[in-house]
Amino acid sequence: MDVLAPLDPADPAFARDPYPYYARLRGQGPAVRVPLANGTHAWLVTGYEETRAVLADPRFSNVPPPDAGRPKADSPARQARACLARHMLNSDAPDHTRLRRLTAAAFTPRRVDALRPRIEELTAGLLADVAERARRDGSVDLVDAFAFPLPVLVIGEVLGVPEADRADLRDWTYRVGSPADALTPGAVDDAWTSLHAYFTELIARKRRAPGPDLFSALTHDATEGGLDDGELLAMAFLLLFAGYETTMNLLASASLLLLTHPEELSAARRDPARWPAVVEETLRHASPLEGTTWRRTTEEVDLGGGAVIPAGASVLAVLAAASRDPRHFPDPDAFRPDRYLAGA
Ligand code: HEM
Repeated sequence: MDVLAPLDPADPAFARDPYPYYARLRGQGPAVRVPLANGTHAWLVTGYEETRAVLADPRFSNVPPPDAGRPKADSPARQARACLARHMLNSDAPDHTRLRRLTAAAFTPRRVDALRPRIEELTAGLLADVAERARRDGSVDLVDAFAFPLPVLVIGEVLGVPEADRADLRDWTYRVGSPADALTPGAVDDAWTSLHAYFTELIARKRRAPGPDLFSALTHDATEGGLDDGELLAMAFLLLFAGYETTMNLLASASLLLLTHPEELSAARRDPARWPAVVEETLRHASPLEGTTWRRTTEEVDLGGGAVIPAGASVLAVLAAASRDPRHFPDPDAFRPDRYLAGA
């Protein structure tokens, strides 16, 4: 695809291998204004240093403009969706600072570490199921049987969702995360309103009777400056959504990379100290999120290298491109976990 041809991220040919496009774009500068398939334009940031700069610079706002082209909240499903979207990823300081501080206070290392035995148990259960299905059917879809359910089950633990409700949570998550045309519109709308109603009831229950879960801690820090019910609702949704798709993509990509690089799989099996490097290199080589959320410039910003972004521009920091910037990562297209080994 020509760098000046309209970009359609949903185009299967582009989605299969976007890296040559990003490399050509980077050749034009660290941030380039490109036409999008929907008729608008956006600045795509592809340089590593420039991406870091954008993510740390408050002149790139996370708050979606009121006229962000979204449909009006005129149906229960759209209203539910709008409520669930009022979360930390769509906010700037000082709101973001407060939400982030409260979240960090609830997610203490001790509480996160306490989840470890339960996560190991859930993983072992799913792997036994994968092995059983493979024996029975000859093959198994790893995303369906493992990479998708594992993070949803773990986030169910974080949110303190009772076991009996986990199947519903999994079903609604699958539906609201599916491409627009993959399911009937009624199925997706119903999942949005069900998630909204379920989280509203869950928060009321946690207020009455807190459990040992992390979400109860967030609910009960709600003294002065704590999260109100609307913020808790959006937080529950953010934890589910921020946590499941990213982890699912990481698990699936790591499996594929190790199966297509058997020498790396053998090396990690021989020396388990290599596993953290495998994870880091997978995050770099196959970024689970292709880009961050959209930002908008609050004033003109000079990013250097000739990239001067005007005020009011839509900006996407393309993590998948920044992670393959040859100025920062030599031989960027190669999958080489050893670049993250101590002393490498
Ligand atoms: C491989 C796994 C993960 C990756 C690659 C990942 C990646 C990211 C990235 C790139 C952002 C910044 C997005 C932006 O600013 O536009 C982000 C934010 C966030 N992620 Fe993750 N994430 C992962 C797992 C999780 C999990 C498991 C959770 C929680 C259950 C989580 C919760 C969040 C939250 C709450 C934010 C918002 C932070 C803020 O705005 O300050 N993430 N994540």
